[in-house]
Amino acid sequence: MLLAKPLKKAAAKVFAAAPFSLDKQSPIIPIRHMKFDFEPEKLDPKFYMNAELASAYFASLSIFLTRGEDLVIDTARYHRDFINDPLLKQRVTSLIGQEAIHSKMHEEMNDAYRERDLPVELFRFLAGYVFKYGFERLPQPMKLSLMAGIEHFTAVLAEYMMNHEEIFFRSTDEKQRAIWMWHMLEESEHKDIAFDVFQHLSNNYALRIAGFFPALITILVLISAASFIVPFYRNPKNLISLKYWKEIPYNFRLIFGLKDGVYGSSFKHIFDYLRPDFHPNDHDTTDFLEYYKEKLLHPETGLLTPYMTKEFIPALRI
Ligand SMILES: [Fe+2]
Ligand SMILES: [Fe+2]
Repeated sequence: MLLAKPLKKAAAKVFAAAPFSLDKQSPIIPIRHMKFDFEPEKLDPKFYMNAELASAYFASLSIFLTRGEDLVIDTARYHRDFINDPLLKQRVTSLIGQEAIHSKMHEEMNDAYRERDLPVELFRFLAGYVFKYGFERLPQPMKLSLMAGIEHFTAVLAEYMMNHEEIFFRSTDEKQRAIWMWHMLEESEHKDIAFDVFQHLSNNYALRIAGFFPALITILVLISAASFIVPFYRNPKNLISLKYWKEIPYNFRLIFGLKDGVYGSSFKHIFDYLRPDFHPNDHDTTDFLEYYKEKLLHPETGLLTPYMTKEFIPALRI
């Protein structure tokens, strides 16, 4: 959303810029253009560990995520004008570019999923309702906080996935593997940018925490609740299928299990955000990034190489 210039100038007074410095975990990051050409008939609806409901969670996430990414893009674009540091500004441009391509590619996968009995339009409507009448109406400082909160959860997810590479190889669906691994890599690459912008422009602890909870409720509660619809929408017989109901605890453990579930085992990482001196780079993922860049982006053997059409670094404007 654009504000008229005088209003934007007035808003600038709200932000008292704190000093910003890059550390070794904050390199300049590229924007990568991808082309997946999803084929609906080849999409595996049980991509996640061959588990119907857990896979439905990620399919639902793919739909809700695009609205979250659009909010991140708009908010980052708006606040970029208040940043004086050229390096941070350049990194924000990378964040915007990466998120724009995530949103576009996931929308293409969601379109393909529509033909595989996923209630894509219903979920787009629900997500649209939550964002249009809720999050997008928030004042800019709160949106800035929400942006940092959303990016914290995608960083948690990315770290979990980087730690559980085997998940991506349980299915033979190469394109879903590629899109989720690419997204994982880039969420980890840019995990500190939204947070640094928040700290640079606001540095208000209470406001930061206020943005954490709506992100938590959307990602853990709302999307989980929505995903329960999917198996019945796809196959109403699941309602009376003993096999389906027997598998529910396993599916639940995959997402929420304390030992090895996506969010259950990431509990400490999730709530570490509440620590007043938290920074995303306290969770060092540099070794993972090095490993996955080699595995995914190697010019000959990289898993993403067949799908990547362009890669560039945004200009540094001093
Ligand atoms: Fe993203
Ligand atoms: Fe992100």
